[in-house]
Amino acid sequence: MINSSNNFALHNQNISWYFHRIQRQDRERLHKHRSMLFWFTGLSGSGKSTLASALEKELYHRSISTYLLDGDNLRYGLCRDLNFTDNDRCENMRRVGEVAKLMFDAGLVVLSTLISPYRSERQSIRNKFPTGSFVEIFVDTPLNICEKRDPKGLYKKSRAGSIENFTGIDGVYEEPHEPEIHLDGQELLIDLIRILLEKIDVCLLC
Ligand code: ADX
Repeated sequence: MINSSNNFALHNQNISWYFHRIQRQDRERLHKHRSMLFWFTGLSGSGKSTLASALEKELYHRSISTYLLDGDNLRYGLCRDLNFTDNDRCENMRRVGEVAKLMFDAGLVVLSTLISPYRSERQSIRNKFPTGSFVEIFVDTPLNICEKRDPKGLYKKSRAGSIENFTGIDGVYEEPHEPEIHLDGQELLIDLIRILLEKIDVCLLC
């Protein structure tokens, strides 16, 4: 019996890339803006989804074509077979990175909100994108504040021992060393959105 990794290697030898006539640059012209990926990273409860959602609304009102890949939501479908072990989280990030790449090629401004705890995996995703197109946004909210917010009651469950491998408690979170945008997650949402819009308007025009 051939295991799945052998199968992948075999398969890989027998495929070749087909260059289609319409390319990302054509789609960017159609959308009237360039494609980007805004990769939000931070602890559970840091405010990634709230921020990305508010930012997407602002971009939408500026006629920018967006899509938001929300970590929790994706685990209802695309990533429903994955858990929170190290391997599963890496696979979760890889899959979402690939989907983001497709949407990027489609000419969209993509926002993703995964905890994405591993520096090396975030780097691997960054490597798939042209320089300047992958914007890492670190939502830096201290653990004690996230735990106080505890919007889904998961920190409480983790402290009680009913959830394993919870990021920040008994699961690792590797902070970005040099994110393009570093936000203090304790600031007011309105101020954070203003900061994001200032930086992003510049990015979209480059
Ligand atoms: S990631 O680590 O693989 O990037 P992802 O962003 O998809 O995580 O999912 C995180 C969300 O899953 C959290 O916001 C929380 O609602 C939920 N969750 C459930 N179990 C865990 C856990 N053990 N660690 C972190 N988040 C968890």
